[in-house]
Amino acid sequence: MEKKLELKDIVLIGRTFDEYYRMFEFGNINFRDERILDVASGVSSFCVEANSKGYNVIASDRIYCLSAEEIEEKCVEDLKTVVKKLPEILDLYRWEFFKDIDALKKNRKRAYRLFIEDFKKKGEGRYITVEYPKSQFKDKEFTISLISHFLFVYDELLSYEFHRKTLSEIIRITSKEIRIFPLVNLKGKRSLFVDRLLEDSDFKNYEKTIKRVDYEFMKNGNEMLSIRVN
Ligand SMILES: C[S@@+](CC[C@H](N)C(=O)[O-])C[C@H]1O[C@@H](n2cnc3c(N)ncnc32)[C@H](O)[C@@H]1O
Repeated sequence: MEKKLELKDIVLIGRTFDEYYRMFEFGNINFRDERILDVASGVSSFCVEANSKGYNVIASDRIYCLSAEEIEEKCVEDLKTVVKKLPEILDLYRWEFFKDIDALKKNRKRAYRLFIEDFKKKGEGRYITVEYPKSQFKDKEFTISLISHFLFVYDELLSYEFHRKTLSEIIRITSKEIRIFPLVNLKGKRSLFVDRLLEDSDFKNYEKTIKRVDYEFMKNGNEMLSIRVN
């Protein structure tokens, strides 16, 4: 049987600013000019770390209606579940950014702890409850939207229709660019939804570019899709 990270639901696991920086090639973004939306941001520490650098970032996820304690309980459990499964599928990953499972665990813990601490203070209103594919944001409220480990990765749990509707909504609320990472699913294969979205007539007016980036944890997961919407 084909190897994959077997999950029953989308997990509550978060990444750090450093990982976002590499996944989304921030080198060419002048943060001072942007209002950024993190789509399905979960327990990632990107939002709190970015805001502490003075950047304007808003986080959105369906879990933000829960208490910090409820979120923490679930993300601790999800991290345990994933870590337990990893030894059997080690070869689906590249152990360079993280040297081993322990280093990965430490990094993920750091991310959710930074997030929880900020969320408890309600991070000055930067955590917005959103259940995609719909959102309450205004047209073009953000200049750039980032989608990490939400679309494409879970192509067995989220339908193509969900992907299409979510992308249409993000286009509605974004004025310049949308970046999506990674383009592979939990088997480490390019999701078939990537080509379907690229060819979908709903998105024919937008310039779409696939770029190789300097981050690869899931093997083959080293590409980002950029969609220019201006
Ligand atoms: C694997 S986490 C990714 C978190 C973060 N983007 C990162 O890369 O570190 C996936 C997130 O998607 C969120 N999610 C799943 N379905 C959602 C939906 N319909 N609307 C909003 N968030 C959703 C989950 O709550 C979870 O936090």
